[in-house]
Formats: sequence, structure tokens, C-alpha cells
Amino acid sequence: MKNITIAIDGFSSTGKSTIAKQLANKLLYVYVDSGAMYRAVTLYAMQHNIISKDNFYVDKLISDLENINLLFKFNSSLGFAEMYLNNVNVEKEIRTLEVSNYVSKVAEVSEVRKKLVEQQQQMGINKGVVMDGRDIGTVVFPNAELKFFINASAEKRAQRRFDELIERGDKVTFKEILNNVQHRDHIDSTREDSPLINAEDAIEIDNSDMSLEEQFDLIYKIVLGKINII
Ligand code: DC
Repeated sequence: MKNITIAIDGFSSTGKSTIAKQLANKLLYVYVDSGAMYRAVTLYAMQHNIISKDNFYVDKLISDLENINLLFKFNSSLGFAEMYLNNVNVEKEIRTLEVSNYVSKVAEVSEVRKKLVEQQQQMGINKGVVMDGRDIGTVVFPNAELKFFINASAEKRAQRRFDELIERGDKVTFKEILNNVQHRDHIDSTREDSPLINAEDAIEIDNSDMSLEEQFDLIYKIVLGKINII
């Protein structure tokens, strides 16, 4: 079977990473969660008082970029790669609501995007990669053989994220999560640099009323169809 590049873009909490992980495991491809990289840079900014409720010192973040080392390390018991920020496993810390509240601001900074996009392109250089994010089919891999754009209603997405965070033991309300989802949708799709848009050649899937199995079956069929004709 020929190795291809699969780009999965879409709004937050659409389950992109679940699909991407399932696909990568099935195809024995590398999975890259590009959002984790933006989240890790955001965590760095929070830890160094670069971003807070009242301030965002963009110049300081830009000058610190060379000190931010991001690495994915595969965890075989989990079956996916975890995010390391300057050699520390931050997989749990980057998923908090606080990071979610700041990450879209950090992801608007062109210098941050440039650095992360370069690393993402390197990770996909040999193909055989499934990467999810917001600009994967448009900016990171515009020539990807297969592009998906995943969508679902804001309420469904907020409910999924709320359930996840509650299960982890985080103290959050549904309203907070819905506000965060809607706010991020707005920033992610209206920012100047690489806004979230549906690439012309992306296959759009609304999974509001689909089970995980239905969604995987649909996407996997499309992937096999593509791999077999290349
Ligand atoms: O997929 P996620 O929710 O973990 O992504 C977190 C944020 O990172 C998202 O709100 C926007 C940003 N992001 C981005 O701008 N470009 C990407 N390729 C991936 C994520």
C-alpha cells in the first residue's frame, strides 16, 4: 500500500484527533496532533507570565521561541505520542480549560505559526502521516492526497468536551465550555494568518449525529479508496 498524507481540519472538539488516531493506528501511520503544539507553546507562555487574563507580551513570546523545544514521544501503552515541552511531559497540562482559553491568541501570532508549521512539514516529509489541526490541508500540506474537514454543532462539541473534562475530574460548567468553543471558533476562523477554512478539495463531514464507529467506517472507506487508486 502506498503511503499518503492525510490532513484533518475542523473546528475545536469535533473529534478530529480521535479519527486521526484511529486512522493512524489502522494504517500504521504517524499521527501528529498539531493543536498540542500550539497548546504547549501556550503553556510555556503561561508558565513564564507572558500571557495572563490582562496581558499578552507578544514580543517576549517571539524572542523566547528559540527556547521552546517541542517533541512528541510515542507512549506504547496509550498507543499515541505525548507532548513534551522542554523535555517535560505536558500531555495533561495542555488540555486544561485555562490553556484552551488562551491558545487561540497564541495561535494568531505569525512567528509562532511559522515555527510550528516548519516542524509539522518536517514530520510529514516521508508521508505516511495523519495530521489534524486548522490549517493542515491549506497551509501545512496543501498537496495532501486526502483532506477532511470535520464539523459538528457547537452544542454537540461543547457537550463532548465537557464530558471529557468532567471525566478527568476538572471542575467546569457546560456554559464555560460552550463559551470557549464559540470564542475559539470565532478567533480561529477570522484570524489574519492561516484562518480555519475548508480547503476546496477537502471532503466535509458533519458528525453531529454520527457514532464514532459510523464516522470511522465512512472515513476509512474513503481512505482505502484513495490509497488503492494511487
Ligand atoms: O485542536 P485543538 O483544539 O487542540 O487546538 C488548539 C488551538 O490551537 C485551536 O484553538 C487553534 C490552534 N491551532 C491552530 O491554530 N492551527 C492548528 N493547525 C492546530 C491548532
